[in-house]
Amino acid sequence: MEDLEILKIGLSDILELQHIATETFVETFSHKNTADNMSLYLDNNLSLDILSAEINTINSEFYFALKGNEIVGYMKLNFGSAQIELKGINSIELERIYVLKKYQRNQIGQQLLDKAIDIASQKQLEFIWLGVWEENWSAINFYTKNNFHEFDRHLFLLGEDRQTDIMMKKNLRL
Ligand SMILES: CC(C)(COP(=O)(O)OP(=O)(O)OC[C@H]1O[C@@H](n2cnc3c(N)ncnc32)[C@H](O)[C@@H]1OP(=O)(O)O)[C@@H](O)C(=O)NCCC(=O)NCCS
Repeated sequence: MEDLEILKIGLSDILELQHIATETFVETFSHKNTADNMSLYLDNNLSLDILSAEINTINSEFYFALKGNEIVGYMKLNFGSAQIELKGINSIELERIYVLKKYQRNQIGQQLLDKAIDIASQKQLEFIWLGVWEENWSAINFYTKNNFHEFDRHLFLLGEDRQTDIMMKKNLRL
C-alpha cells in the first residue's frame, strides 16, 4: 500500500476539510439517524463559518491523512482550554478521527492515532481522551484495542436527538 502522509492543515484547506468531514460523517452516521437530524448537524457543525472558527482556534489542530493527492481521513485535536471538557493542561482531546469507509481497516486510523499520541508525548501530556457514541461499536473496538478505558458518559446532540457518548481515556505515562 502506498505510504500515508499526515499533514497539519490551515485555513487554505478549508474546502477540502469540509468535504472530507461531511463525507465521512454521512458515511458513518446516516444509516442510524434521520435525514433531518443529519442535516441539522451538518449545518450547525460543519459549515464553512464553523470550520474556519475551529481552524483559527488557538489550541485546536486539524490533520489530513493523505495517500498521494487523495485525502483519505482526518483528525482534530484540542489542547488546554480548547478541549470540550476536562480542560486541564495535562490532557489532549481527540475530538474527531475519521477514515473514508473504502480505506478503513488498513491501519490509517491507527497511524492518525499514533500521530496524536506522538504529539501528546512530545508535550509530555498525561492522557488522551475522547467521546464516542455508545452505538459506534467499530470505533469503540478500535479505542479498546488501543487501551482506552471508559471513565464517564455524557450527552451528545445529533441534530435534535439526545445520544449518549462514552468518554474514554488512555494514560500516556504507563
Ligand atoms: C474508527 C476508525 C477511525 C478506525 O480506523 P481504521 O483505519 O478503520 O482502523 P485501523 O485499520 O487502523 O484499525 C486498527 C485496529 O483497531 C481495531 N479495529 C478497527 N476497526 C475495527 C472494527 N470495525 N471492528 C473491530 N475492530 C476494529 C482492530 O483491532 C484494528 O487492527 P487489525 O485490523 O489489525 O485487527 C475508522 O473505522 C473510522 O473512521 N470509522 C468511522 C468514523 C468514526 O466512527 N470515527 C470515530 C468517531 S468517535
